[in-house]
Amino acid sequence: MSEVNSPFTPGSPVPLELFVGRSEQIAQVMRHVRQAVSGKQENVFLTGDRGIGKSSFASFLRHLATRDHNMLGAHVFLGRVSTLEEMVRHTLEEILKETREQPWFDQLSAYFGDHVRQLGMFGVTVTFDPPERDLTELVRKFPEVLGNVVAQIADEKAGLFIILDDMNGLAESIEFANWYKSLIDEIATQYPQFPVLIMLIGLPEKRDSLASLQPSLLRVFRVCEIERLSSDEVREFFANAFAGVDREVHDDAFEVLVRYSSGIPFLMHEIGDATFWLDEDDVIDKKDAFNGVIEAAENVGTKYLDPNVYRAIRSPRYRSIIRKIVVERPGGRSFSRSEVKSRLDPDETRVFDNLLRKLRQMDIVERDLEGGAGAYLFANQMYPIYLWMESLQAGVARSLDD
Ligand SMILES: Nc1ncnc2c1ncn2[C@@H]1O[C@H](COP(=O)(O)OP(=O)(O)O)[C@@H](O)[C@H]1O
Ligand SMILES: [Mg+2]
Repeated sequence: MSEVNSPFTPGSPVPLELFVGRSEQIAQVMRHVRQAVSGKQENVFLTGDRGIGKSSFASFLRHLATRDHNMLGAHVFLGRVSTLEEMVRHTLEEILKETREQPWFDQLSAYFGDHVRQLGMFGVTVTFDPPERDLTELVRKFPEVLGNVVAQIADEKAGLFIILDDMNGLAESIEFANWYKSLIDEIATQYPQFPVLIMLIGLPEKRDSLASLQPSLLRVFRVCEIERLSSDEVREFFANAFAGVDREVHDDAFEVLVRYSSGIPFLMHEIGDATFWLDEDDVIDKKDAFNGVIEAAENVGTKYLDPNVYRAIRSPRYRSIIRKIVVERPGGRSFSRSEVKSRLDPDETRVFDNLLRKLRQMDIVERDLEGGAGAYLFANQMYPIYLWMESLQAGVARSLDD
């Protein structure tokens, strides 16, 4: 077997050469990039479910904006950040990191005083750690601070592309909503030229919460929503990834990989990675692909599902019933109580309503109001997909024969 590393990157943004799809959204955001570069400050809210590819999309855009429009890009991960001070500190630190190699780094870091440090144990990193009092000031004067950064880099760079990724904690804070609104207003009224694009990234419900905290923000943001990839895009992804490591892939294996990925980037990588490591002869056949899906299901269950949900779904008592719910409409979100019931054996029938009640209590399943009486929906599209992948384990032999 060739000693090559897996080309798949579950859990991290995809490398540029394996990025697929999103052409419409790229065109949309690049229009805003051009507006920003021409001096008009722009705000984009990028939204989509977990694992759908928001961070990867943002990092691809940043690549385009720096390469084609000479912007300076800073991708700030705010996962655990919940205060304005920390957000501003991270943002400025990221900008400083990006400029470290540039001739004007000294000039810029001098502007931030003696709280910028370069640490050089394993390669150089930059930290920015001003005292609380200074941070408060930086938060308050942020428009001016950004304006200064832009002025400092103006000879070399056309503008700033700031990505505030995973700002889910902040999106629920009224301080952030108000601060952002005044940031925008101040820029609009006091700076005729402000070549800065700010992209906020959050889950769909976070956009709603931000909008309800500060309704006028809705008018400021250009909303960009990303959804599932098409089957062709998923296939293109697998073809590129496996070709890059000299693996041959059978047509019927492609079909399995694509079908179970369900257009979800996060699943493509989990399934691809598991398949890559399981394969022993550098040829990915249908059996490798099925086994990859089964193994990936384990990872998906533990990484993506809430532990309580994971346990409930896998309890031996209910597992066979749950498999029967998903088997008829693979990956589909809705099902009918009576239809499922007609396929259960007497033992299963007896506990079915209990199970349904439990699934509803845990918010795994909800009533499908549009589907009429006895219609149910999985609350999250990932649930039925996971269950479908997982159920393959019980029926591998059959699936391989069909
Ligand atoms: N357009 C894409 N092409 C190929 N792989 C992608 C693409 N978008 C995301 N991925 C991969 O999918 C997974 C989830 O992507 P990520 O950007 O982390 O999603 P999110 O930020 O929405 O949670 C990662 O493993 C990433 O490498
Ligand atoms: Mg992300």
